Amino acid sequence: MKKILDLISEEMKKAFEEAGYDRELGKVSLSNRPDLCEYQCNGAMAGAKTYKKAPIMIANEVAEKLTVSEIFSEVTAVMPGFLNLKVKEGFVTAYLKEMEASDKFGLKKPEKVKKIIIDYGGPNVAKPLHVGHLRSAIIGESIKRIARYVGHEVIGDIHLGDWGLQMGLIITELKERQPELVYFDEDYTGEYPKEPPFTIAELEEIYPTASGKSKEDKAYKERAMEDTYKLQNGVRGHRALWKHIIQVSVSDLKKNYANLNVDFDLWKGESDVHDRIPGMVEYMKKEGYAHESEGALVVDVKEETDTKEIPPCMILKSDGASLYNTTDLATIMERMEEIHPDQLIYVVDKRQELYFEQVFRCAKKTKLVEGNTDLRFLGFGTMNGKDGKPFKTRDGGVMRLESLISDINEQMFCKITDNHEVEEEEARKTAKIVALSAVKYGDLSNQASKDYIFDVDRFTSFEGDTGPYILYTMVRIKSILAKYKEQGGNPETVALQNSLSPSQKDLMLALTKFTSMMESAYEELAPHKVCAYIYELANAFNRFYHETKILTQEDEQVKAGFIALLKLTLAVLETCIQVLGFEAPERM
Ligand code: ARG
Repeated sequence: MKKILDLISEEMKKAFEEAGYDRELGKVSLSNRPDLCEYQCNGAMAGAKTYKKAPIMIANEVAEKLTVSEIFSEVTAVMPGFLNLKVKEGFVTAYLKEMEASDKFGLKKPEKVKKIIIDYGGPNVAKPLHVGHLRSAIIGESIKRIARYVGHEVIGDIHLGDWGLQMGLIITELKERQPELVYFDEDYTGEYPKEPPFTIAELEEIYPTASGKSKEDKAYKERAMEDTYKLQNGVRGHRALWKHIIQVSVSDLKKNYANLNVDFDLWKGESDVHDRIPGMVEYMKKEGYAHESEGALVVDVKEETDTKEIPPCMILKSDGASLYNTTDLATIMERMEEIHPDQLIYVVDKRQELYFEQVFRCAKKTKLVEGNTDLRFLGFGTMNGKDGKPFKTRDGGVMRLESLISDINEQMFCKITDNHEVEEEEARKTAKIVALSAVKYGDLSNQASKDYIFDVDRFTSFEGDTGPYILYTMVRIKSILAKYKEQGGNPETVALQNSLSPSQKDLMLALTKFTSMMESAYEELAPHKVCAYIYELANAFNRFYHETKILTQEDEQVKAGFIALLKLTLAVLETCIQVLGFEAPERM
């Protein structure tokens, strides 16, 4: 289906042509002055120089050609040469009817379906999820859903941090505490126990303890490095323990991500590409890409046009150990071989931007990716507290994601039960749904690359540019639809009708923008555009609702037309919150 602005522009272009001007001047845009008109065309001004004519004269001639039009109800030429436009009710209704009848509201299928891998989440095994991981999960999930909705084939990969020093630290600390464990008996050749020798709670305590000790105690740190080395080089007991760590940690992560409505197609990690590293290193050496520098193996990635210093990409440390870079490059190699993606999108803290620049350049230079593979870094800003500093607990510690979410759930629960009487169980369920919308919308409504202030009071408010406000609007529509049924109406058979008021027309026009919004949200990887759109749509709906007698409307046909409009509004809102990664309750 064509976008509404394209249809309108087409009509305007015809008029420019008929009046003897270049048709390309007829491009129409949304109005900058919604008080005066719905759309506008600035082509007369753009053409004035070429045609050596006052813009207003051109505008008048074009307007003349549009006195009879299927699309425009008003075309006014105003000084110095704008064309102010309003569209016919029937045109808008017909457009919405077609939208309603089309798959995905008429969104065009992509010309080429792309295979896209989104690397997001990126938690580190055995370390509790903290608020720093929230943004990657929320933004990545939404980008994945948007790209999928638009029609691409998308694979989400969590890319666990499961191979570094943190694993060695845990093993060292376990050995300290329980040296008798069979995993540490080098002569043991039997099978290892199925059950892990620790719980998630223990694990989460072990890591920070070990990490703290390694900072104080050099010998301890050396032992941890040695344990990391042993793990990476396949010492049986170490591998078995590591598997337990992953198993315990991953099942906890799955629970946490499920609570956030975030799910991954692949649960791969840095460790998965371990066996590829020697071959990759060999290849980079053999082809002359990598060279030694102060004992380390590096690939130069600076380019002549650089305005800032881009250091070489380090492939192996001087002790031969692999690094974060190495696993990322080997992962690119694996993804290319196994999945052949057209695009790789990394949703990671923007402080890793330079790092990814190096990795991408290195991957291209060493031909791990084909020339047309699009490597994209979507860096997000920091989530700050009200004081403008990175978000912390009240006593200044790192806030665990679980506590943050349960605090907000609790706050939402109080709000809901304060408002009216509800069964505890239902209120808990609703609170969870609404709280998630508060957190996700609060995050996604900001441009990803910007830092933002995590303001729980504002995010959980039922008024203003918030998730709960959007849900509240949807619940309001649901309740009207339910009452319509109670009155004996059948929402299945209602049909859209021409608008009867300016607020109704505004709502209808807002709905027509859906497809172009979704396309640009995808192209620009910008969930905030979806948020801005549903905020506009919800506002338009609420204005209409406050000005209109819907259920008490006497004329049944008019009422049915309103109900049809409500249904479409709800359906569009449902789609939008689905791609943002949250849902609406039945009641609030
Ligand atoms: N685990 C990393 C961290 O906590 C994030 C991983 C991002 N993805 C990647 N492919 N490097 O910083």
